[in-house]
Amino acid sequence: MVRHFLRLSDLSATEARAVVERAMALRAHRDPAYRPFVGKTLAMIFTKNSTRTRVSFEAGMARFGGHAMFLHAGTTQLGRDEPIADTARVLSRMCDAIMIRNDSQADQETLAAHSRVPVINGLSDRHHPCQLLADLQCWFEHRGDPRGKIAAWIGDGNNVCHSWIEAAALFGFSLRIATPKGYEPDPAVVASAGRCIELCTDPVAAASGADLIVTDTWTSMGQEAETHKRLAAFAGYQVDRALMAHAKPDAIFMHCLPAHRGEEVSAEVIDGPQSVVWDEAENRLWAQMALLEFLWA
Ligand code: CP
Ligand code: NVA
Repeated sequence: MVRHFLRLSDLSATEARAVVERAMALRAHRDPAYRPFVGKTLAMIFTKNSTRTRVSFEAGMARFGGHAMFLHAGTTQLGRDEPIADTARVLSRMCDAIMIRNDSQADQETLAAHSRVPVINGLSDRHHPCQLLADLQCWFEHRGDPRGKIAAWIGDGNNVCHSWIEAAALFGFSLRIATPKGYEPDPAVVASAGRCIELCTDPVAAASGADLIVTDTWTSMGQEAETHKRLAAFAGYQVDRALMAHAKPDAIFMHCLPAHRGEEVSAEVIDGPQSVVWDEAENRLWAQMALLEFLWA
C-alpha cells in the first residue's frame, strides 16, 4: 500500500521516531557517495511562496542522486482548472513522489487518493508535518529525547501549531499553547492528541519552566488582509527576553521561519544564544530525505 505523509499522525510513534533518528544519522555522516535516489523524480507543486521547503527538497534530491521538479501550480493545467485527481493520475505515472504546498488539506487528500506514489504535505491550511520532523530532529540534537519535557507554543493556533500538537502525542512531551481568544487551534486536533496538550491565553503561564519555546508568524500566507487585526490581537504575545526568562535557563527557541522581528519574536531572542532556528531550518533537508527513504522503502 502506498504511504502518504499529509499530517504527522500519518506516522506511528515508532515510525516518526525512526525517521527523526535516521535524519540525525544522515546529518551526522554527510556521505557524498550516498546516492540512494538515483533515477527517482520528485514533483513539487506550489500554490504559495516558499524558500526552505522548495530548496530543502530540491537540494536534498540533488545531493541524494535524484531529481526534483518545481511546478508552480498556476503555470500547470491546475491553473486552468484541471482536476487535482487527474493531475495525481498523470504525475504519479511519471514521478516517484509528489510534494504539494497549497491552502487545502482536502485537496491534498484528493491528490493522495488518486496517486500511485507517496504524496507529501509541504504545508497546507491545516498542517506542516515536514516542519515538525525537522523541529524534532533539532530538539533531539540540542537537548536529547523530548519525552517528558515541556514545550510552549506562543501565538497563533495555526497549521504549524497543529503539527506541534500531533508531535507532542507521538513523541511524549507536553505542549502548552498560549493564544489570544479566537485564535486557538482546532479542538478536534487538540482532542486527538489527548492529555499532553494544555490551552491558555497567558504566554507567561505557558512559558514558565518550559524546555522549549516556539512561535510562528501572526499572519500566515493567505491571511494578509487580516494583518492589522492580527497585529492588535497578538499584542503581548511576542517572544522576547522577558518571556524567555520564565522558561528553564537552558530552554531553546524555535521558529519555522520566515520570522518577523519585532512582531512574534524580538531580534534579541531569534538572534540570541538560545535560538536554534538555523539548525532547525537546515534539518528540513535531512528530515525530508529520511522521510523519502521511509516512504520509498
Ligand atoms: N518553514 C517553511 O516552511 O519555510 P518556507 O515557507 O520558506 O518553505
Ligand atoms: N504558518 C505559516 C508557516 C509558514 C512556513 C504559514 O502558513 O504561512
